[in-house]
Amino acid sequence: MGTILEVKDLVKRYGSLVAVDGVTFGVDEGEIFGILGPNGAGKTTTVEMIEGLRNPDAGSIMMLGIDAARGRQEIRELIGVQLQSTMLYPRIRVAEALELFGSYYRRAIPAAQLLDELALTEKKDTFVERLSGGQRQRLALALALVNDPKVLFLDEPTSGLDPQARRKLWGIIGQLGEKGKTVILTTHYMEEAEQLCRRVAIMDHGKIIALDTPNALIAETGLEATVEIDHPGDELRKALEEAGLPARVTETAGKLVLHTSESSRVVSQLTGIADDLGVVLQDLTVRKATLEDVFLALTGRHLRE
Ligand SMILES: Nc1ncnc2c1ncn2[C@@H]1O[C@H](COP(=O)(O)OP(=O)(O)OP(=O)(O)O)[C@@H](O)[C@H]1O
Ligand SMILES: [Mg+2]
Repeated sequence: MGTILEVKDLVKRYGSLVAVDGVTFGVDEGEIFGILGPNGAGKTTTVEMIEGLRNPDAGSIMMLGIDAARGRQEIRELIGVQLQSTMLYPRIRVAEALELFGSYYRRAIPAAQLLDELALTEKKDTFVERLSGGQRQRLALALALVNDPKVLFLDEPTSGLDPQARRKLWGIIGQLGEKGKTVILTTHYMEEAEQLCRRVAIMDHGKIIALDTPNALIAETGLEATVEIDHPGDELRKALEEAGLPARVTETAGKLVLHTSESSRVVSQLTGIADDLGVVLQDLTVRKATLEDVFLALTGRHLRE
């Protein structure tokens, strides 16, 4: 498995704002690589520089052995791009849109095959404006696949979809990964990154603050589990602070969150302290740590605020 994309010290400024602030990473052939971060982190700016849609202020991009600063046209034939918001002419039918996009390339996959793969055959004669949100996103994905790209870029592929439509799209993206397609996707849904991606770069304020497999990211942060208490009350909160539990404590939205690698010890100490105080623990939850917890531990903030 070789490296298919190599990004080094990439920078993009908008006036005084440094939207992308020295980003370096590599993507291996055949992997689904995720860029996870909150709104405004610089995800779209990063991928659009790689796609050749924005000019970097500094840094280098090597895609499939081609220097992006020189071989933009050559790269364009080899990649597929789903933009964060795909603008489509509303009075075009689904199959026509696929034919039209295919005509932009030297080589295109037959529309019928794409319709089948993206579960859109039934909708082939439907006007684009009549599609549901999930169908529209699947069409956008089909259009990005039309030139049978070596590398596929998906910018927030399931943004705004309901859970059912999101899962359907995850299934399709997962299948592309199984077929060996290299996929680079941006998202602010940690479940999406965890489900789909072999490796994830966590981005915040224009910088990559962590990069690894989801499991390794969780392990590296020293978090195994998260113990949460809703509305702990001042008395209990103070007692917990004084007890020095083997946990890192953060508090958000009235909720006390204890990140720990010793969840059973934390829970037994916690219940002991509550008993001593005569406090009934309401809504105590113990769960495996997620990428959301990694982000919270690294930044003190949630991915979606
Ligand atoms: N064309 C532009 N002109 C000025 N500022 C821009 C431009 N494009 C992006 N920015 C700014 O750069 C920062 C990064 O934006 P970007 O769209 O890359 O974030 P993102 O991580 O994709 O966010 P989201 O999750 O909301 O899509 C933001 O602060 C944004 O306001
Ligand atoms: Mg974006």
